Amino acid sequence: MIQLMARMSHGKASAPAKIILFGEHFVVYGSPAILAAINKRVSVDTYTPIDEEDKIVIRSDIGVVGRYSNDGEFNALEGGMKSKAVLDPLYSAIKEVLLVRNEKKRIGIEVCISSKVPPGIGLGSSAASCVATVAAVASLFQKNPSRQKVCELAIRSEKLIHKKTSGADCYVSTFGGLMQYYSKSKNFKNIETKGLLSLVVASTGVKHSTSELVTGVKRFKDTNKLLFESLTKQASDICLQACTAIESGKLDKIGALMNENQILLQQIGISHYKVHEIIDICSKAGAIGAKITGAGGGGAVIALAESKQESTKIASRVKAAGYQSFEVEIDYNGLSI
Ligand code: PMV
Repeated sequence: MIQLMARMSHGKASAPAKIILFGEHFVVYGSPAILAAINKRVSVDTYTPIDEEDKIVIRSDIGVVGRYSNDGEFNALEGGMKSKAVLDPLYSAIKEVLLVRNEKKRIGIEVCISSKVPPGIGLGSSAASCVATVAAVASLFQKNPSRQKVCELAIRSEKLIHKKTSGADCYVSTFGGLMQYYSKSKNFKNIETKGLLSLVVASTGVKHSTSELVTGVKRFKDTNKLLFESLTKQASDICLQACTAIESGKLDKIGALMNENQILLQQIGISHYKVHEIIDICSKAGAIGAKITGAGGGGAVIALAESKQESTKIASRVKAAGYQSFEVEIDYNGLSI
């Protein structure tokens, strides 16, 4: 054991959660989206070799632990069978790294995930976990892959959770900052902010399945072709105008565009009465604009405030109404290894 401890390598990485300021759902169909990495992180520690020589053990502090044998057989150690759905993408992320490294040796790896990101409400906790896992496992073998490569591998793993992912979450979690993202070209452009964006996140407490909501939107699109085309065009215009408004620091314009974007999200059927309740509280507390962030169906709301002081007031009003709420800042670091 002492010998094993002495030889053990340790890798680590962390990646930020994200908010979508504009363009969720429509981004899947080619419209741009504006996203920002936020100051809530998922941290991953990895170890090899471990006592269980040819196994991959994944522990997450959300109460799930699982062990995968070399042929991929899953054994839930904590959290029951629901843990498989949570851990499979991470297992896939680990396998992707081993594949790229052509790592044929049967080595045991332990991966420990600790998250400050509330899961299942649209803040990109699974993307951040995949990004940090890829980087932490790669760092076990010393040679750090490029951010671009980490992002590609993380997107492949995310695809296990939802096949039609635009990849936007993994991009912003890897590269950080505020960006306009184009799913068609898998390209992004950094947006320079003029002045501070004082933002509040509020959770409805209703967890969502991104995959189910994206499938629901596809059904809506297939039965309302012309309407959906027009909504996508409007979403795209909102996004382009928002980019200019952010670059020139026009808070009132950004807020108004957030409200317009929310109406489009309501039209495609992914809003929720608790979202409307929170938006109402935010606007009565002085928010300039508020909307769903992420896939919706409950999930989270973001609100824009005039100043830091105002965002503190908005967050405390939302909390007083019984919802989880916190102020967020943009994270410009992205993946950290
Ligand atoms: O998983 P969420 O809630 O962050 O939503 C992802 C954003 C979508 O546009 C709904 C889907 C995607 O892949 O872009």
